[in-house]
Amino acid sequence: MSIQTSRRAFLANTFKYTGLLAAGGVGASAMHAVLPHRSQAAASTGHPWPWPYVKLDVEAGRKLGHDSYWSGKGCSYAAFYPIVHALEQEIGAPFTNFPAEMMIYGHGGGAGWGGLCGALNGAAAAICLVTDKKTSDMLISDLFGWYTQAFLPTDCSNEYALKKAYGVNKYNEKVQQNKSGSILCHVSGSLWSNHAGFKIIDLERKERCARLTGDTVAFAIALLNDNFDGKFKPVASANPVANSCNTCHGKEGEKPDVLSKMDCMQCHGDPHAQ
Ligand code: HEC
Ligand code: HEC
Repeated sequence: MSIQTSRRAFLANTFKYTGLLAAGGVGASAMHAVLPHRSQAAASTGHPWPWPYVKLDVEAGRKLGHDSYWSGKGCSYAAFYPIVHALEQEIGAPFTNFPAEMMIYGHGGGAGWGGLCGALNGAAAAICLVTDKKTSDMLISDLFGWYTQAFLPTDCSNEYALKKAYGVNKYNEKVQQNKSGSILCHVSGSLWSNHAGFKIIDLERKERCARLTGDTVAFAIALLNDNFDGKFKPVASANPVANSCNTCHGKEGEKPDVLSKMDCMQCHGDPHAQ
């Protein structure tokens, strides 16, 4: 047997037993690519999803979310890390050495594209790590709705700055608060910049994002804690504009071509107004 064939035979057996080969269509080179990952995954997790959760400290999360923003790893990492880190401290495995850096990509609305706010992206990933699909959809939808309606950063996170209560204190003034109406980084950041009169690259804008990252972590932990206690109640109301447009454009409407809970008029105005 050549090395090549014996490797093929080995892979064939491995995948026969794991059922992957039976699923069909996996070429030898593709198997080569997946094999190392599979064995590592088996070694490091062993825990079926969703991973366990215990109640966490909301305010510790708010502060660490703020401080992690200034780690250089971005807002999305900064919203994910405090939750996974706290769970590692409380529970240990499977959270041990979890590479929270995987969420770096979410910064600036996705590698700087201005899409989904990175703080929301990171916190939502943490929620989905520890809750099943139905629960995470429910909690994340409430988190997103809250974010669009809240005046951010919150009074609470501004207070911490005034009292120099953060671990990283770059800017200790009150940051102006506004309501973005949107889950999008671009909309949220640009509306705030013009509202507060700062450039998008200014320290004040970054500190604003650091504080709202902390607020997002705090809100996500509060949701998870309430869910853990079986007393979750949605706080964010559905967007009335989306609801009304979706009566026709939603999946049960006469022109079912939209799947969105965003505020339609922020982008479209009312195209039927004339
Ligand atoms: C009573 C049902 C109904 C409601 C409510 C409604 N639409 Fe429409 N919409 C339609 C239909 C039907 C069309 C396609 C025919 C047309 O252009 O009138 C359409 C077309 C559109 C188009 C495409 C326009 C084009 O020129 O093709 C957009 C964008 C749109 N709607 C957005 C909205 C938004 C935003 C809202 C809420 C503010 C909304 N619609 C509410 C029925 C509705
Ligand atoms: C972030 C901005 C944004 C939001 C929020 C948004 N849309 Fe859109 N929508 C767009 C863009 C951009 C397009 C692409 C077509 C265009 O340029 O009109 C589009 C396309 C559409 C179309 C198809 C238009 C066509 O010409 O065929 C409809 C219908 C529509 N949107 C309805 C809605 C409804 C209803 C909502 C709210 C639930 C909504 N949109 C929210 C930006 C947005």
